[in-house]
Amino acid sequence: MAEKALLRALKGETLATPPVWLMRQAGRYLPEYRAVRAQAGGFLDLCYNPDFAVEVTLQPIRRYGFDAAILFSDILVVPHALGQKLWFAEGEGPKLEPIRDAEGLKPLSRERFHERLAPVYETVRRLRRELPAETTLIGFAGAPWTVATYMVEGGGSKDFAHAKLWAYRDPAGFQALIDLLTDSTIEYLSAQVEAGAEALQLFDTWAGALPPEAFRLYAIEPARRIAAALLARHPAVPLIGFPRGAGMLYAEYAATTGVQGLGLDTAVPPDWAAAALQPKACLQGNIDPLLLAAGGEALVRTVRDRVIRLGGGPYIFNLGHGILPFTPPENVAALVEAVRRPT
Ligand code: CP3
Repeated sequence: MAEKALLRALKGETLATPPVWLMRQAGRYLPEYRAVRAQAGGFLDLCYNPDFAVEVTLQPIRRYGFDAAILFSDILVVPHALGQKLWFAEGEGPKLEPIRDAEGLKPLSRERFHERLAPVYETVRRLRRELPAETTLIGFAGAPWTVATYMVEGGGSKDFAHAKLWAYRDPAGFQALIDLLTDSTIEYLSAQVEAGAEALQLFDTWAGALPPEAFRLYAIEPARRIAAALLARHPAVPLIGFPRGAGMLYAEYAATTGVQGLGLDTAVPPDWAAAALQPKACLQGNIDPLLLAAGGEALVRTVRDRVIRLGGGPYIFNLGHGILPFTPPENVAALVEAVRRPT
């Protein structure tokens, strides 16, 4: 069988039509997701039940025929598997019992890590059997810095004050957390590959909060270690790095981490990305999720613009961040149509 389009792009091929998938393509904007979510009860029950997780992963593939399916799970299952308390309060997002210092790391352990994540690996195995032959299965993890922000803050945050104060006051203690997450992420992503994931994405959603020195320590260096370890263990499986908000530091991230793909946030100018980043990595992005939610002529025009400006090299069509829950499903169909039939 011919190689899948998304994997060809990540190997550096320029395709006539870019492969397309969207971050958070499974989720609340789909009525069929909301139905399964209601049946599952809690959000974590959805993540840890392979029947439900497989079903919601497949829903957007059935509707839109995306070139890739992304495993349905969450980045916070890693701290959960390390033993940190995690719950999703209805309408409030994730909550964790915060860890604020090196002492707080002591109860965390990798002893039962894979056992606790076994349902996620089972979901990956089943997806690989059930997906259409042309669809790539993407596994993922949160990057150490982004996962650390939730672990230290105890949930979402505006300024990451606790995480950054810890990093600045006690660099060795904070590094122990980053190292634990880096090692755990390598194990977690390797296990996803062994279960059937064909490409991987590392979500560093809050990388843009880091000043350059801290960005090098907590965004670039862990990504470099993760990419190197995965390349050694699974040389055929590409890794997409998504250092959201990195700005000018995207260039350094692309040049030094060794990732094969680079997720662009909405702020990255496409012509600059094509000139400065595309020689180093396959690009992915970067339509504004709010433009997708708005839809109409401006969406179609911008989709075509990105296909022209970024499609001259290795490129995967995507958003610059996840789909928003109030996005009309028909706008997603219009986006896919515009990517695949540009005129
Ligand atoms: O379709 C996909 O992209 C795969 C599934 C996926 C989810 N979360 C499902 C989810 C992926 C790849 C993630 C990653 C994730 N989770 C990130 C990084 C990417 C990003 O969006 O920035 C982050 C920061 C998280 C942590 C997280 N999980 C938050 C902050 C929230 C609450 C916000 C929200 O949208 O409610 C979640 C919950 C979550 N993860 C939902 C989904 C579909 C919504 C939960 C629900 O159904 O109630």
